[in-house]
Amino acid sequence: MTTPAATSHPPAHLAALHTDATRGLTAVPKALPPKWLYDAAGSALFEQIVRLPEYPYCRTEQALLTRCSPDIAANTRAPSAAEPGSGGPEETLALVDALAETVTTDVPVDVSSRALDQAAPGLSAACPRVSAQPRIADFTAPLDLDDVDGPRLVMLLGGTIGNLLPDERAEFFASLAPRLTHQGRLLLCVHLVTDPRVLLPAYNDSAGVTATFNRGVPHRINRALGIDFDVDGSEHITVWDAENEWIEMRLRAGIAQTVRLDDHGIDVRFAAGEDLRTEVSAKFRSERLARELDAVALELHMIWTDPDALVAPALRVLPAA
Ligand code: SAH
Ligand code: AVI
Repeated sequence: MTTPAATSHPPAHLAALHTDATRGLTAVPKALPPKWLYDAAGSALFEQIVRLPEYPYCRTEQALLTRCSPDIAANTRAPSAAEPGSGGPEETLALVDALAETVTTDVPVDVSSRALDQAAPGLSAACPRVSAQPRIADFTAPLDLDDVDGPRLVMLLGGTIGNLLPDERAEFFASLAPRLTHQGRLLLCVHLVTDPRVLLPAYNDSAGVTATFNRGVPHRINRALGIDFDVDGSEHITVWDAENEWIEMRLRAGIAQTVRLDDHGIDVRFAAGEDLRTEVSAKFRSERLARELDAVALELHMIWTDPDALVAPALRVLPAA
């Protein structure tokens, strides 16, 4: 397996952080894209989150993917795979045995170099036949993938699609179409709507790991942009938005403060108790998933779920033109 060194950030990354911080902190209400949760420290914390007793999603998905991997393999037969938001390799490894017969190239795409540095060697160890070609990139921009002759399997696992807002999801799905020619497949795993009494503790664990993960966002902005938002005095908040059916993670400012965003003098004011949204995590019902995918002409091929109906991997196929 070859693992080209494409895992360090281009300078545009810092510019993107600056743009998102300027836009997001001057918006009403204040909000930042969740991708900024994932630097090396954020990815390490996410690795802890997936092992927390309160956060059942990843282990449930992994078990389910392992169980249905023969079906997935039989219905894809793609030589090329791409994984936007690949993270480390855990979820993919659940599929490796089944996919190894057909997949020869896998492109993990992630904003976190720590995640990518683990993804490629993990796959390599599990499946030396597959050439891993990691790319550090934001998957909300069109994926820069080589043209391939046969079908491609795009895997968006771990419920990551739910971290995009509805418009961003529509854009993402639409941008996939040129990547799914030759009857390419999209394997998409979503979190399902469940009782908020199960959902909320998953985002507010008793050990405080998710709170630390959440506080990583302003820490990162402080460091990268040289500002001094009071992180330690801020409170980790989780809210279930029943109308949109998503969880929000927010940070609530402990004190009123003004932070100067850059040398050009953009002052951002926080009132005491004001929230900064750092993540949405949408939970799905099958009807909504079907509606969103139908809107971009992706046909449902297969869908599975676990006995507790926590997660649902769905296999979609782009109809032949
Ligand atoms: N797919 C893995 C990891 C899920 S965690 C699994 O199922 O376990 C979400 C991953 O998506 C993280 O590794 C994070 O760094 C990455 N990510 C989040 N937003 C992203 C974006 N806009 N572009 C690329 N990667 C992103
Ligand atoms: C990666 N993503 C699907 C996770 C989620 O559940 O939305 C990220 C996360 N946020 C807090 N805990 C885990």
